[in-house]
Amino acid sequence: MPLWHLAVSALITIDNSSALISLLADFRKQNPDAKIGFVPTMGALHQGHISLITRAKKENQLVVCSIFVNPTQFNDPKDLERYPRTAEADAAMLSDNGCDIVYFPAVDDIYPNGLNEPFDMDFGGIDNVMEGAHRPGHFKGVAQVVDRFFRIVRPDRAYFGQKDFQQVAVIRQLVKEKKHAVEIIACPTLRSTQGLALSSRNMLLSEEEKENSLIIYKTLLSGQNWIKDNSDITELTEKLTVFFKKGNLHLEYLELANPENLQPVKNKNQPVHCFIAAFCGKVRLIDNMRLN
Ligand code: PAJ
Repeated sequence: MPLWHLAVSALITIDNSSALISLLADFRKQNPDAKIGFVPTMGALHQGHISLITRAKKENQLVVCSIFVNPTQFNDPKDLERYPRTAEADAAMLSDNGCDIVYFPAVDDIYPNGLNEPFDMDFGGIDNVMEGAHRPGHFKGVAQVVDRFFRIVRPDRAYFGQKDFQQVAVIRQLVKEKKHAVEIIACPTLRSTQGLALSSRNMLLSEEEKENSLIIYKTLLSGQNWIKDNSDITELTEKLTVFFKKGNLHLEYLELANPENLQPVKNKNQPVHCFIAAFCGKVRLIDNMRLN
């Protein structure tokens, strides 16, 4: 049996960075060839998160998951307040799915110098569109917390979901800018059987609201169909927007962008990806899909 099986056999819960740093240092000393996979989350775990844990488990000898509702990435204080917190159920899910270590830090463990500690990074323009444009400061908060996690965990691989497509681009930029030695793995979006992208925020929706929210998925699928005979991107965007607005959600944006640089596309000779953000009542949902 490899040594790492002996080192870690049940879920270990850790709530402070120094304990985690020293545990991982011991692990590395005893298992110099072992790889560490890392899955950062904000908890309220669902099968989408678990798909990242499962993939990390398959590709690494040790899997660390963090659960931290990061205050610096919430541009709306009400959203932070409402964000679901289900620590016990989360720990049980992680334990059942082969996660080795869960890191549950308090705010001052992550931000020992306070929430206003400066964090500078060149986002190369990806923070000016879509989520970046509609949620000022959001990506700075995401990059800041993930930077801190990468310094603590020093993972070989880190796993992120394509549901937050633009976030993956921000993380890749962070890795480049801050020279983190980690491979970023982007994983596919898990959906409900009807097509709603799984999200912690779905817990805040009634059954009727979940039904209404399917308009997001239906619009993305229509985009895949309609792009086949529609060569005018402006026209297609307009047609999809009209279709979306027949539903009961409040549209924040619907954009057709190039998945490589997230800039708006002008024609379908390049890859076209559809991005949607909308409110169902007070709950903000995002989703995306490649159209061509
Ligand atoms: P959170 O929303 O908890 O998501 C944690 C990870 O799970 C992210 O990489 C997200 O893209 C992925 N994920 C969420 N829903 C998914 C789904 N339906 N299918 C596949 N993967 C899914 O994203 C964050 O937390 C935070 O911004 C974080 C990166 C932890 C920084 O605070």
